[in-house]
Amino acid sequence: MRVGVLTGGGDCPGLNAVIRGIVRKGVQEYGYDFVGFRDGWRGPLEGDTVRLDIPAVRGILPRGGTILGSSRTNPLKAENGVRRIKDQLAKLDVQALIAIGGEDTLGVAARLSDEYAVPCVGVPKTIDNDLSATDYTFGFDTAVNIATEAIDRLHTTAESHMRVLVVEVMGRHAGWIALHSGLAGGANVILIPEQRFDVEQVCAWVTSRFRASYAPIVVVAEGAMPRDGELVLKDGSLDSFGHVRLSGVGEWLAKEIESRTGKEARTTVLGHVQRGGTPSAFDRWLATRFGLHAIDCVHDGDFGKMVALRATDIVRVPLVEATARLKTVDPELYQEVGVFFG
Ligand code: F6P
Repeated sequence: MRVGVLTGGGDCPGLNAVIRGIVRKGVQEYGYDFVGFRDGWRGPLEGDTVRLDIPAVRGILPRGGTILGSSRTNPLKAENGVRRIKDQLAKLDVQALIAIGGEDTLGVAARLSDEYAVPCVGVPKTIDNDLSATDYTFGFDTAVNIATEAIDRLHTTAESHMRVLVVEVMGRHAGWIALHSGLAGGANVILIPEQRFDVEQVCAWVTSRFRASYAPIVVVAEGAMPRDGELVLKDGSLDSFGHVRLSGVGEWLAKEIESRTGKEARTTVLGHVQRGGTPSAFDRWLATRFGLHAIDCVHDGDFGKMVALRATDIVRVPLVEATARLKTVDPELYQEVGVFFG
């Protein structure tokens, strides 16, 4: 059997570990051969391929990014997209496709599988950890570790100058990175997209930390919004998801804190640093297991499924279930963390 593999959406530490797991088990245990598709769904759409065999995956386990390249191409929006994919798969004699990606990439896999009989298996990926049906996505742990290390470093410089340091982390729709790194790094305020924040309350927390002789650290997810919708967008352009880009919440907040409390404030935007570089041990472990189970799905002919982590087990769930809604932070979980703020 010949199996196609692609990686779509934003890159994420651990993608190469998944690819390696798929290829090694596929070749050594099942005798399959592989075709790598370049740049997500663009690859099968245009027949753009990469050699994918045992030598190609040697040494890639600790490497960040993806050897296959990635893009946010959506073939369902391309002219004759489905027809073109089917033709390319037939031409290359590819009998099954493993798509590694987030909501958008897996949403395409779900539709191709269910509506157009293209045999697809999905592997969940995103640093944001906002895919439902899996407890964790790989890449998240690495991003949280990077953000936590940054917060640790910012504590010492904040204290030396007795300043407020606002750290903006990724998370447009879900505050998982903010919540986990903020808690792990001992932040004094954590702001997430799921719950609008009150600037006055943030300033009250900041002031109370100064009174206790602490220089406060405020962690804010990029998608967090003030309660009164008073955030002035720095850039109203559309991002690659077609959403209005809400850049600048961290910078905006630091200015507000400074003018309302009279305390000096600085902003650090971590940005794509959170997505680059080598995956953590946990992400290598999870990504490798996802890869091994994804090729098992192919071998069993179990298509239209996504591999998922439930507690410590890898299970199979329908792709449609996994992409139906985003997994956001539960208000109760957020409340639990809030005990540190006052
Ligand atoms: O979905 C992952 C993610 O890193 C988000 O956290 C972030 O908002 C977005 O991708 C950034 O996308 P781009 O790489 O297109 O700027």
